[in-house]
Amino acid sequence: MTTADYNIHKFDAMSPAVWEEPWIKALTSQITTALQNHVAWIGIETDNTGSDYKLFDYACGNGVASHALASFFPVIHGMDISSGMVSQYNVRAEDSKLSHRMHAVVGNLLDDSDSGAVAAAPTDAALVVMSMALHHVSDPATMIRKLSQRLRPGGVLLIIDFVATSESGCPALEDDSPMSHAIAHRGFTEKAVRDMFSQAGLQSWAWKWMDEQTKLPEAAGGVQQLFLARGVREG
Ligand SMILES: C[S@@+](CC[C@H](N)C(=O)[O-])C[C@H]1O[C@@H](n2cnc3c(N)ncnc32)[C@H](O)[C@@H]1O
Repeated sequence: MTTADYNIHKFDAMSPAVWEEPWIKALTSQITTALQNHVAWIGIETDNTGSDYKLFDYACGNGVASHALASFFPVIHGMDISSGMVSQYNVRAEDSKLSHRMHAVVGNLLDDSDSGAVAAAPTDAALVVMSMALHHVSDPATMIRKLSQRLRPGGVLLIIDFVATSESGCPALEDDSPMSHAIAHRGFTEKAVRDMFSQAGLQSWAWKWMDEQTKLPEAAGGVQQLFLARGVREG
């Protein structure tokens, strides 16, 4: 099985009850707060209500980033490789009375044979966000390039993920964790992410660590450090 296959397998099997586990709740709350506290740093326009102001939440899961930023974007597209996650995303959008402007589809930008959902995904997003998912893909450089192609000129790509333990000093993610086959990279150095942004033609690079560290269960690696990285597709 490929990393993508493992991800489909693992995330399709993830029950909605997972989001109620205390450490997951703390993590999603941390991401929500970080996104909302960094609106200006990211470069989100706070007064744009035009229907062309789009957020593309890639590897969206059940929609943590979409919901955190829903008040800024009239149109929100989600995409995820897991149909189970897409279904949870769309149920949550419905429950939040946001389904008229927030909808996810199944897709994988790294799958060149996918001419359906991928072909229909936005190419004019003001913001593309990929939160806690770059470490799940086999070829992060190609993923960053494909994500940057989804931006309108002046649009921003934002990645949230783990800082490599060589830079953060945090313990390594455990090799025997249940997720291990679905994880392709155990965090990223600042230089690695910066180089991938640069190779994708993104400019106005900025990187920062989240203010507080993140507590994963010990079996998954214990305390970890997350980063936010952003770059702009110049016009
Ligand atoms: C840890 S979850 C993060 C979900 C969400 N972005 C968040 O911040 O809560 C990782 C997500 O990445 C998705 N994923 C993994 N590989 C993917 C790929 N190649 N393309 C799209 N989604 C992928 C998984 O299905 C899963 O929903």
